[in-house]
Amino acid sequence: MTQARRRRIVVAMTGATGAILGIKVLIALRRLNIETHLVLSKWAEATIKYETDYHPSNVRALADHVHNINDMAAPVSSGSFHTDGMIVVPCSMKTLAAIHSGFCDDLISRTADVMLKERRRLVLVARETPLSEIHLRNMLEVTRAGSIIFPPVPAYYIKAGGVEDLVDQSVGRMLDLFGLDTEGFERWNGWEK
Ligand SMILES: Cc1cc2nc3c(=O)[nH]c(=O)nc-3n(C[C@H](O)[C@H](O)[C@H](O)COP(=O)(O)O)c2cc1C
Repeated sequence: MTQARRRRIVVAMTGATGAILGIKVLIALRRLNIETHLVLSKWAEATIKYETDYHPSNVRALADHVHNINDMAAPVSSGSFHTDGMIVVPCSMKTLAAIHSGFCDDLISRTADVMLKERRRLVLVARETPLSEIHLRNMLEVTRAGSIIFPPVPAYYIKAGGVEDLVDQSVGRMLDLFGLDTEGFERWNGWEK
């Protein structure tokens, strides 16, 4: 009899602003007992240091497994390694372009490519503003190829007390897409009476 394995999600962080979103995703997945496989780009490391109180080594410590972005032999680079999907959070326009073109020259674009070919969940927290025609075209086409674009756009109706509430709500909605409930934000239940 085969034992059911823990659910397993690949988390990739790239050099778009919003490193805290990736960190909070890792914390939420840890609480939910999901096995995480983390890949950090060079520019993700830079934004983690600049934007947050975390050092990349603290972020790595939040994951069950960490893979070097240049290690194309890591398990996640093969479709034969079972995963329940991948989230790129935040996702730069450069990595979006690489995924769009299928140009797999690092472990993030390769693993995203694997998700699409294996028809697994791929969520791209694509962050840029304003958006050029190239960005919009890439987003449309990766959506057609099976991924979900989740721009980290706040829901103002939650009447957030601060940035942390907005981040928690966004992270909760991202993980909804994997059928996971962080229970870390209030859901819309109609107008407050
Ligand atoms: C502080 C900072 C913020 C950035 N924010 C964004 C952003 O929001 N979106 C984006 O596409 N690129 C952004 N960039 C540029 C990317 O880091 C750059 O394009 C990089 O090559 C992305 O590589 P990666 O996808 O391998 O991490 C930012 C760079 C820095 C230093």
